[in-house]
Amino acid sequence: MGLQRSVVGHEHRCAEGPQPRFYSDAMLADHDDEVPLFGGDVSDGVVRRGDTVRRALTPNSPAVHAYLRHLEQAGFPHSPRFLGIDHQGREIVTYIDGEMGGRPLNSWAVTDTALTEIAVIQRHLHQLSAGFTLPDGVEWTEGLGSVPDAPAPPGEPDVVGHNDITFENVIFRDGRPVGIVDFDLAGPTLRLLDIATTLRYWAPMSPPQDRDPALHNADAGHRARLFADAYGLDATERADLLDVTDWRFERAWHAMRHRAETIGGGWARMWNDGAGDLIKRSHAWFKEHRLAITDALTR
Ligand SMILES: Nc1ncnc2c1ncn2[C@@H]1O[C@H](COP(=O)(O)OP(=O)(O)OP(=O)(O)O)[C@@H](O)[C@H]1O
Ligand SMILES: [Mg+2]
Repeated sequence: MGLQRSVVGHEHRCAEGPQPRFYSDAMLADHDDEVPLFGGDVSDGVVRRGDTVRRALTPNSPAVHAYLRHLEQAGFPHSPRFLGIDHQGREIVTYIDGEMGGRPLNSWAVTDTALTEIAVIQRHLHQLSAGFTLPDGVEWTEGLGSVPDAPAPPGEPDVVGHNDITFENVIFRDGRPVGIVDFDLAGPTLRLLDIATTLRYWAPMSPPQDRDPALHNADAGHRARLFADAYGLDATERADLLDVTDWRFERAWHAMRHRAETIGGGWARMWNDGAGDLIKRSHAWFKEHRLAITDALTR
């Protein structure tokens, strides 16, 4: 029912389902002003309008909207609520009040507490994805799909993941993660792959010279350990996580190049700015430090 109420050409707020946690009456007032939101590399023209955010649709949007509805109905308090499509053909989602991690990162975004809390939020998301099936006629276009020339995935999808939990896609309040935004890349994936993606940024799995200054001296192994403990990974999963991380770097390079070539836009911009080389440097750093990270994760 819910989805049918979002009609292109009209702006609808859907009153069904639980009200979003971050929605207060004061935020419901309509505003004409559109304030650009920054923090992404890919979507041009993300704006805040009153208590809502407007973003361009992607081929994955119908599936994402169904998933956001599912998360709302399941009572997940950390995702934007999908409200409909506006008269410019943009998706309308609720604005989650707070601040993203920052560019450059704020010191409050890189605390151990923030790290362990994002692990618990990601586990919650994975748990709730278990009962989700797409409506008839809707397909995921993101997730663990094949990428030309990339090695085959190391398993079958076992969750619907966000697949892009970067610091820019997490909203904090008082230094604590409260929301995850930008579900454009959500789709069926391996639980461990979604975790490897989060740790790629949050550990981070990159050489110090390529890190944000706030994470320059971070002990990636120690932070991976904190995350794994908070998420609740067992010994086998910890070992597998490192295999998946290795595979992920390989795939990420091919996926990024493929997106740059086929989609262009922000993807091409990132590729031309050296994103491929950055992935290769990070992969080399990971291989060099893998033993130490294994030790930190498993001892
Ligand atoms: N629902 C929301 N509530 C609050 N802030 C949001 C919301 N959606 C987006 N933002 C803010 O706008 C910024 C850019 O939005 P978004 O991440 O959707 O764009 P993007 O270009 O697709 O990013 P990416 O490059 O990660 O794909 C985010 O970093 C965040 O700060
Ligand atoms: Mg983003």
